[in-house]
Amino acid sequence: MAKKMDLKSGSSKKPHEYIIFPLDLPTLDEATHYVRLLKNYIGLFKVGLELFVKEGPKILRAIAEETPTKIFLDMKFHDIPETVSGAQKAANAHHATFITVHCEEGKGLLKAVVDSVKNGTKILGITVLTSLSKEDLKEIGIREDLQDPTQLVLHRARLAKLAGCSGVVCSGKEVKAVKQEFGKDFIVVVPAIRPKWSVVNADDQKRITTPYDAIKDGADYIVVGRPIKNAPDPIEAVKKIAKEIEQALS
Ligand code: C5P
Repeated sequence: MAKKMDLKSGSSKKPHEYIIFPLDLPTLDEATHYVRLLKNYIGLFKVGLELFVKEGPKILRAIAEETPTKIFLDMKFHDIPETVSGAQKAANAHHATFITVHCEEGKGLLKAVVDSVKNGTKILGITVLTSLSKEDLKEIGIREDLQDPTQLVLHRARLAKLAGCSGVVCSGKEVKAVKQEFGKDFIVVVPAIRPKWSVVNADDQKRITTPYDAIKDGADYIVVGRPIKNAPDPIEAVKKIAKEIEQALS
């Protein structure tokens, strides 16, 4: 696969390196199976709540043994500054590429995490979960002018930027606006990716995008879980997604 210059971020990465695979799996054995299967076909493995609560840090050591530089620790920290700072200090031992923290409690909490990083881990702010729609934002009491997810994403991305985060997580519907407002170097990770060919039943994701559209609009990484995990051949699925990324970059 040709190495291309990504003009949007100015970085040089191969198309498959844009793909983050979430290890949303219940056991270490199942997660390790996918790490071995996909390690040469994707950019990063994302460890989230389900697996970390079940298996703890040993899952990170298992990934590091297979592929040392590919960990995205998606802890979505959300607590008082003292607690998240302590959590980040403990997480420094894992040498993750990215760690996530919720933006909604403001700059103090975000900065507490950023200031506790020791080893080059980049902190990403979670703006508005892709499973939330405008109606959900209204229901949880978000003020009217911010019930449009793009406005709320921009508002929270601004907090993340001011606090020193390296970037944010948002849906593909907002990536263009975030890049326009905060520049090409502010990293944007986009989950809720659904290739046109993927069929995911009883889906909880609402603000979805295709790999092509997300990359075209400037995403630096896309998180693709179920469309790969549930595919009859996960490697084929990853290759198809990488092809789509290559087309979007060209
Ligand atoms: O592709 P799929 O929907 O299966 O991906 C699910 C993954 O995306 C989960 O690991 C979830 O934590 C992650 N996600 C995220 N940020 C969001 C929404 C989902 O990291 N806003």
